Order: sequence, then structure tokens, then C-alpha cells
Amino acid sequence: QPFDLVLRNARAVTASDTFLTDIAIQDGRIVQLGLGLGVARRELDAAGRTVTPGGVDAHCHLDEITSGPVRMADDFDSGTRSAACGGTTTVIPFAAQRRGHSLRAAVEAYRQRAEGLAHVDYAFHLIVTDPTPAVLEEELPALIAEGFTSFKIYMTYDDMKLDDGQILDVLAVARRHGALAMLHAENADCIQWLTRRLLAQGHSAPRYHAQARPMLVEREATHRAIALAELVDVPILIVHVSGREAVEQIQWARTQGLQVFAETCPQYLFLTAEDLGIDESYHGARCVCSPPPRDRANQDVIWQNLRNGLFTVFSSDHAPFRFDGTEGKQPGGQQVSFDHIPNGIPGLETRLPLLYSEGVLGGRISANQFVELTSTNPAKAYGLHPRKGSIAIGSDADLVVWQEGRHVIRNQALHHNVDYTPYEGMELKAWPALTLARGAIVWDGQFHPQRGHGQLLRCGLHSLLPRPPVP
Ligand code: URP
Ligand code: ZN
Ligand code: ZN
Ligand code: ZN
Repeated sequence: QPFDLVLRNARAVTASDTFLTDIAIQDGRIVQLGLGLGVARRELDAAGRTVTPGGVDAHCHLDEITSGPVRMADDFDSGTRSAACGGTTTVIPFAAQRRGHSLRAAVEAYRQRAEGLAHVDYAFHLIVTDPTPAVLEEELPALIAEGFTSFKIYMTYDDMKLDDGQILDVLAVARRHGALAMLHAENADCIQWLTRRLLAQGHSAPRYHAQARPMLVEREATHRAIALAELVDVPILIVHVSGREAVEQIQWARTQGLQVFAETCPQYLFLTAEDLGIDESYHGARCVCSPPPRDRANQDVIWQNLRNGLFTVFSSDHAPFRFDGTEGKQPGGQQVSFDHIPNGIPGLETRLPLLYSEGVLGGRISANQFVELTSTNPAKAYGLHPRKGSIAIGSDADLVVWQEGRHVIRNQALHHNVDYTPYEGMELKAWPALTLARGAIVWDGQFHPQRGHGQLLRCGLHSLLPRPPVP
């Protein structure tokens, strides 16, 4: 009985090991590892090539409902297409509650938005914006039990943010049910105060976005998030950490024995505040995201802490808004003041190649750390491991074969629906040659559509920490 597919002589890299192996695939799963495996209906030669588990992008925004004329450019079709072509085989976008509406309604709405469109598997984080008694006591516990085991809490953005008391309420639910809360840590009042002052001085260009959100507003909120989690005694994960002062808060928490995990993103390694503009031009609106990119010294701190293990997860925070047209960075076709530019930059497809090239081949992190940060740990953090995030017998056949060699990033060669990449023209040392999503070839230098092949995954509880023994 031949296998469906065998990858021959791969240099397989997992979070813990590097080994030469054939990888045999049957019904979308890895069924055998070892050299000299039997024949398959289809054989692929991976001799001399590094093979890693498919990426798990645990922070990306797809087809999220936004206000006014602004719309996200990527839905579950174009978003997962772009993911697949960049080696990512699992995405975890958000189902965002709308104030005054139920959380359950959000889950149903986003499930419908994704239905039948995805080329790779997906799960959802919840975004809690209105923690009513019904949400806290009924909806959240029921949704956690159904496999929606992580939720994002915003400390900023008027239509999303929770106050400290509400955050404590949500964290208490996370503690009771073993869910993982992700925190967007920026001090909303400081941002609002600074924004008003900048606008009063006539400073409205995109570059002032960075001045309205200096490091200290992130540092303060990071510290506060840690304190709130300490009070409730629950693990948390701080998302999109941008630089030294926030890192120091997390280091401090760790020395106190607190279970504080952290995520960072490519923009904090490869962009600086100067990418938002050095003059009054609107071009920098492309790189407006929150927290904003900082400076070179902060980039170095992020690299160091990827290397030393402080960061658990490396995600894209893909937030797809077009620059041209009326629905993205220029709402209604207008060049707006910095506080009205939709926040976020695209990055689903470039996340893995950027970190593989500049991290692994640049000698800053090991290949095993790369796998841990981009695949294994996100799978563990969101209850998808060992189905996702590993090269192991029984795991899904989500795999990336790497091609080393010069590769220049060009937006026209990417597969998202955004009309720019912040990394245009950047020269990388590698790019995925092949992506398998549950055994299906979705990328081999060409995109092979598998619309509807991507399934909604129900998440278990996170497995980042040992669980106390059941008495
Ligand atoms: O600027 C960003 N990061 N936009 C996406 C939403 C978020 O806060 O992650
Ligand atoms: Zn955020
Ligand atoms: Zn985000
Ligand atoms: Zn092909």
C-alpha cells in the first residue's frame, strides 16, 4: 500500500531536533519518519533542503469589521492564500465582539465570513469588548468549552478598550476556565492627551502617530497588565511588544515568577519610526501600526530577546489596509490626520522568510528557535499542539521546504490583496520553495488553490505550562 506522498531526505528541523529523514504522508498526516521509507504515489526530493513545520500565525486580522469607509483588504481567501505562499499553514485571526452585541453573535458572524474560503486551517481568538454578566458568566465559558480558548483584551482604541475593572473580570474567567488572555498594552488616556496636543499644534502627518504613542505608554500599560494578571493569578500573553522598556517589564515579571508570555512581530525588527515619515508626507501612513516601530537600539533589544527566549511567539499582526483607494489608509479617499489612519501593516506572507533569512541565516537565532517561535510555541499557546507545530508521527502534514538563495521582496509577487509591502526591495537569503497544508501542495513557486480545504480548528487549552496534578 503506497503512501500518498513522501518527502525524501529532508533536513527536518523541529523546536528541539534537527535530523535527516524521509517524511511519509497519508490522509493529510505524517505517518512515518526515517530513512528509506516505502514508495508513495507522489515523491518529492528534499535532499539538502531544510524542512520546517508549517508556520502558525497566531496574530493576524482577516476580514475584521471596522468602522466608517475602512475595510480590510484580505478575507479568508486572499489572506490564507498569502499565508500559504509564505509557508504559513495555520492562521488564528480574531472574532471581534461589537459593543452592545453578544460574543456568540461575533463567533457566528466570523465563522460565516470564513466558511468555505480558506486554503489553510484556521482558528479564532475572541476579542472581548463588552464584558457583560451574560458574556462573563455564560458566553465565554461556553465558547471556551467549544474550542475558542484565547481572547484578546484591548487597553486602547475607543471602540475596543476595557477599563482595569473589566480586565480583571475577564482575566478571572480566563483563570477559572484555563483560557489564555492576550493583552494589547498601551495607555489610552496618555495617547488621547498627546494626540490632542499634537493636533492643536497642527501636527497631523503620519509621523506624529509615533509621537502620540511613545514607549512609555506601552511600558506603563505592560506593567499594569502584569499587575492585573498577578492580582488574579493567571497567565497572560502580551502581544506585539515593540522595544526595550516593555521587554524590561516582562523580564521583571519573570523574575517574580509570574507567568507572563510575550509576542513580537517583524515590524519591530525591520522598521523604525522613520518609516512613518521624516517629513509631512502621507507616504508613511503605510507603516502606521500600534505600537509604532521604534529605533535601531530597540530593534537590537527585540533580537536579543528572541535569542534569549524571553519571547514565546513571533506573529505577523497582519492588518491589511490598502494605501490607494477609498477604503484603507485614505478613508473616503482623504489624507486624514494620523489619529484617523487605520492601524496596521500587512505581513502574513513575509513573516517566515524575514525571520528565517535575517534570524537563522543571519546567525541571530538557531533554526530550532525559529521553529519554536513561529510554529511550535504558537501551537502550544493556543491549544493546537501536537496536531500543529511539529514534525512528528500523527501531526498534520503541514510542512515548508526552504530554498536558500537571493530573494528580493516585491509586492507584485506577493499574494495578499494589499497594494504595498513595507519590505519592498528588501533582499532576503531564502524563501519557501514548497508548502504542504495537510498534505496538499499549496505552494511550489506557484500558488495551487485549495479553497475550502482549510478547516476551522477547535483549540484546546494552552500547553505552555505544566498543569497541576489532579487531586
Ligand atoms: O496596528 C495594529 N497592530 N493594528 C492591528 C490591531 C492590533 O492592535 O493588533
Ligand atoms: Zn493589538
Ligand atoms: Zn493585531
Ligand atoms: Zn505546481
